[in-house]
Formats: sequence, structure tokens, C-alpha cells
Amino acid sequence: MATSAPNPRVLSGMRPTGQLHLGNFHGALKNWVELQYQYECFFFIADWHALTTGYDDTSQLEENTWQMVIDWLGAGLNPSACTLFIQSKVPEHAELHLLLSMITPLGWLERVPSYKDQQEQLKEKDLATYGFLGYPLLQSADILLYRPKYVPVGEDQVAHVEITREVARRFNHVYGREKDFEAKAEKAVKRLGSKNAQLYHELRRAYQTSGEARALERAAALLAGNARLTVADRERLQGYLEGTGRVILTEPEVLLTNTPKVPGLDGRKMSKSYGNTIGLREDPAEVAKKLKTMQTDPARARRSDPGNPDICPVFDLHRIYSSAETQAWAAAGCKSAGIGCLECKKPLIEAVVAEIETIRARAKEYEDNRDAVRGIIAEGCEKAREAARETMQEVRAAMGLEYR
Ligand code: TRP
Ligand code: SF4
Repeated sequence: MATSAPNPRVLSGMRPTGQLHLGNFHGALKNWVELQYQYECFFFIADWHALTTGYDDTSQLEENTWQMVIDWLGAGLNPSACTLFIQSKVPEHAELHLLLSMITPLGWLERVPSYKDQQEQLKEKDLATYGFLGYPLLQSADILLYRPKYVPVGEDQVAHVEITREVARRFNHVYGREKDFEAKAEKAVKRLGSKNAQLYHELRRAYQTSGEARALERAAALLAGNARLTVADRERLQGYLEGTGRVILTEPEVLLTNTPKVPGLDGRKMSKSYGNTIGLREDPAEVAKKLKTMQTDPARARRSDPGNPDICPVFDLHRIYSSAETQAWAAAGCKSAGIGCLECKKPLIEAVVAEIETIRARAKEYEDNRDAVRGIIAEGCEKAREAARETMQEVRAAMGLEYR
């Protein structure tokens, strides 16, 4: 192909819940660390999201945010490979949220499964607020602002990405119509240069006559890789390609994170609210102590009783941390009562402690240097704002709010 497209963009966010634990690490963060080297990644601290359920006590918000950034860095997010920022430092999130709220039917928000679920789960809080209802739409704004191709999230967030796609479609439908759309699109085609213009026309024909997905992809890459196009023209050509109006907000796709079952110390899912966690930066001696007393197969009361690894939470950790050989050794030794639980835990403790030590070592330099952390975030916010500003210019113009 004549032009090569830049890496597709990825965006994801996390609420600042304070220091992260192994559940957070294996459920999301580890995945982000891999993605940063394959895509153009934007990762942010969703501090406004924390307010949607925790508006009554904000005393820990800032410190939780900084601690989470340090966890991210410790886990291996590399500020020269990805962009790290704080949501509230990019006010465009709020502006887009407001504008999208104008076209979002209430029913769409009321039907999001987490709306009723969370209200029931967090009964002690009054969540009959405007902000809580609007939370999935705030998330839509978070996403659409950066026009990412992929949003890596777990199963629980898929419905939020789905509503984001619906909101984008509705926005484009309402504001992507231009009277002279075809003429403007054809003019933009010319700007591609004669060779690429011909290729674009061919691919467009291929897509529109036979629905060839490959043709759509190639044409989209052709547009993405063309630095001479203005953003508005790129949107026109994308819409012209697909047979719609201008595509101002692009529909993101879920990149489903495979989330292994991370059991907590009591065998239930590892979760801060259960108080059964192992922190990402916890003292290694403390980690070893916790693991030694971790819940095992409750039926295995004595050393001489055989156990069942399939119902043992410790074995779930082996599945994450141990090689196939070690897993086979543990399973066989458990079922035959050939090994004791402490023996079984030994290689696991070593693996968990080694991982935590790596994270602690990387985090250390940031724990001792808050200014370095602030600097990383300041730079990330600047980059995020630049991307956000570009989208907002298009959004405002499309909605008739340009005031030029
Ligand atoms: N709602 C997400 C959560 O609770 C966090 C989040 C906020 C997010 N905005 C986002 C995730 C945008 C992905 C993209 O985990
Ligand atoms: Fe669990 Fe290992 Fe004990 Fe078996 S031997 S019950 S797998 S800790």
C-alpha cells in the first residue's frame, strides 16, 4: 500500500480506588502494559467517575490518584510508550459529556445494567443522583473524545462501550449531515493525490457493491495514513466510504481483557471491600505471611487427607503464577496427599513475592519523588488535551457552536 497507517489508538481508564492489589493487576493493568507497545495508548485516572458513587467523602481522592499512578508505573506502564493523565485535568471530558447529554434518551441510561445493580449493591449510599445516572455517558465522552479504535475493558464494562457506540451513531446521524456533502467529499478525494484518489474510489466501490470488509479496512488505513487531509475531510471521506454522512465520532470496539480468577486470601474474589487482598507494593515478608495462612481446600483438614485442587483458591493462584510442571506437581501431590499445603504454597509464594519485588523496585523511585510523578502526569495531560481539543473543534463546528 502507498501509505502506512499509524498504530491504532487504545483508550482505557480506571477509578482511583487507592493502592491496587493483585486482582487489579491481573484483571487490567498487566494487559495495559502489553498494549502500550502495540498501540498508541491513552490511560487515565477516572477521578470524576469516583465522585459518581463517592461524592460524600473526597478527602482521599487526590492521594488515591497519586498512589494509583505510582502503582501503574511500578507495574510497568512506561510514560515514554503511553500517555498517562487525569480525567479532571482535561475539562473537555465534561464539555463533551454535556453536549452528548442533549441527544441521549433517558431510557438508554436507565437501561444500563450497572445502574440498578450498583444502586442495590451500594444501598448505604444515595445514588438517586443526576451524576450517577449519567455516569455511563461520562464514560462515553471519555472514550469518544480520543476516537480510539479499541477500549480494553473487562466483561462488566462491555455495556458501557455498547452505549458509547450508540451515542456516536446518534451524534453522527444528527450532526453529520451536510447539504453539500457529496461535493465536499469529492473535493476531498482529489486532495488524496491522483493515485490514492483512484485507489479510494476503487475500494469504495468494492465496499459499497459487495460489502467487502477488507476494502473498507484498506480504505480506512489509506485515510488514516494521509497527513495532508484535514480532520474534517477525513471524517467526510470515512462517511462517504461507508455511505453515511460525516463520521465525526468514531465507534470504538471492545478489546475484551481476559480476566483470570484471582482469589483473595479467604477464597472469595479478591476485592478491597472484602479485606482479602494482597497489595501490589506490599512488604514481601507480609505477603509471604498472608499466603501461608491463605484458605485452602476446606475438606483437607489433615496433612494425610487428599485434597481437591479444583476447589482450592491456592490452586487458582498456581494457574496464574506457576508453570505447567509446577501445576502438575501441585495437583498430583494434593490429590495423593503426597505434599502438604505449605509445601504446595512454597513455589507460589516465591513467584508472587518476585513479582511484587519487581513492582516495588520500579515504584520506589516514584515514591521518593512526587515531582517526577507530577511531571509525567503534566506531560500526559498536555498530550491528552491536544487530542481532545481536535475532537472538540469538530464537535462544536458540527453542532453550530463555532463562533468564528
Ligand atoms: N467505568 C470504568 C470502571 O469503573 C472506568 C472508566 C471510566 C473507563 N471511563 C472509562 C474505562 C473509559 C474505559 C474507558 O472500571
Ligand atoms: Fe490447595 Fe495445594 Fe493444599 Fe491442595 S495441597 S489443598 S492445592 S494448597
